[in-house]
Amino acid sequence: GLKIVTIGGGSSYTPELIEGYIKRKDLLPISEIVLVDIEAGRHKLDIVGEMAKRMVKAAGLDWTVTLTLDRKSALKDADFVTTQFRVGLLDARVKDERIPLSHGVLGQETNGAGGMFKAFRTIPVILDIIEDMKTQCPDAWLVNFTNPAGMVTEAAIKHGGWKKTVGLCNVPIGHRKMAAEKLDIPEEDLFFKFAGINHFHWHRVWDKQGQERTHEVIDAIYKPTDEDQESHLKNIHNASFHYEQIRALEMLPCGYHRYYYAEDEMLKHSIEEFEKGETRAQVVKKTEARLFELYKDPELDYKPEELSQRGGTHYSDAACEIIAAIQNDLRTEMVVSTENNGTVTDLPYDCAVEVSGVVTSHGFEPYNWGSFTPEARGVIQGMKGMEETVIRAAIDGDYNRALSAFIVNPLVPGGVVAKDILDQMLYAHKDHLPQF
Ligand code: G6P
Ligand code: MN
Repeated sequence: GLKIVTIGGGSSYTPELIEGYIKRKDLLPISEIVLVDIEAGRHKLDIVGEMAKRMVKAAGLDWTVTLTLDRKSALKDADFVTTQFRVGLLDARVKDERIPLSHGVLGQETNGAGGMFKAFRTIPVILDIIEDMKTQCPDAWLVNFTNPAGMVTEAAIKHGGWKKTVGLCNVPIGHRKMAAEKLDIPEEDLFFKFAGINHFHWHRVWDKQGQERTHEVIDAIYKPTDEDQESHLKNIHNASFHYEQIRALEMLPCGYHRYYYAEDEMLKHSIEEFEKGETRAQVVKKTEARLFELYKDPELDYKPEELSQRGGTHYSDAACEIIAAIQNDLRTEMVVSTENNGTVTDLPYDCAVEVSGVVTSHGFEPYNWGSFTPEARGVIQGMKGMEETVIRAAIDGDYNRALSAFIVNPLVPGGVVAKDILDQMLYAHKDHLPQF
């Protein structure tokens, strides 16, 4: 049977994953699920791990659920390795958000200074995991949802050399559902094409008759007559896009584009949260504490509703689906972070892009996108250049390169403030940045 190993198994999201496997039990001949965490996560692993065991049992399945702190042994003969770890736990995310905001600069989990620091902490760890995988499970698939998922996936493929890597995110799933709802057409009767990079992609949509319906979706969501533009994500403030700009783009933006296209309002809102001591990580810490209280209940053997308070709700629809699709050669259409290889002609061949395509037993086959219109091409090339710089800095621990990445990141103002934030964050995170 299949052996699936999850690194960061103590995450509060684990029940989401287990539920996804149970839903697909007929497609997944699982024999063992191994949840791996580190000493600092042992307490959480114990609680959520027992909960996972109850869920499997309640579903009448004979899968073995193993909890361990020994990552290397856990990886032995794995078929799939999924990653959902957070180096430094939520406390590190609090710093990623609050330090930039204390300088009046956006701080966010995957964007701006926060996202770059999350990459600095995470990339050495994913490369380390890959080193273990080389000896323990050389044929395994690496299914990454550790953020910043795009940069982590690029590091795994390009620098770790692990070609069997797919990077996942729940954001495209939400956008598909929202478009289907706005058009009042079942999702499966629509054809979607996404392209860009993780948390910075756009999409277009067509119907069965061959008509492009992107404009109608843009109108339905972003026309100013709407009282409040919708964001399907719990974690992103609903700042409004300029309708005129989105019309000119002729593509639908993703929720995270708000940090760039509506930067002033997002910053204002984030500063308000900062002042109240309620940045997203601070809120999530409370949600997480409540979730673990629930998970402790020996009677609870299903995913509680409360988990939907998290931005990553339904992420297992991506994670478990891709495993089922690879395992069964389902050729399911998905949106995946993958090696570009010319799919987006504006970006390097060896970088990671997040695009639509089909999942086969030999991996992800992306649909060709071609090139972007100038207004998207300019920013995506800048963002990718920034990401490549961040990845290099994360690997080499090169201060100059880190500063360079900070200065080119569109959410960090150049000059004195960039260096101040960088220096303060390097100090604040030093325990998790041995390479610097
Ligand atoms: C979205 C993103 C994830 C991100 C999450 C944050 O779902 O796709 O990549 O981690 O939101 O949610 P949280 O509840 O942790 O703020
Ligand atoms: Mn994501």
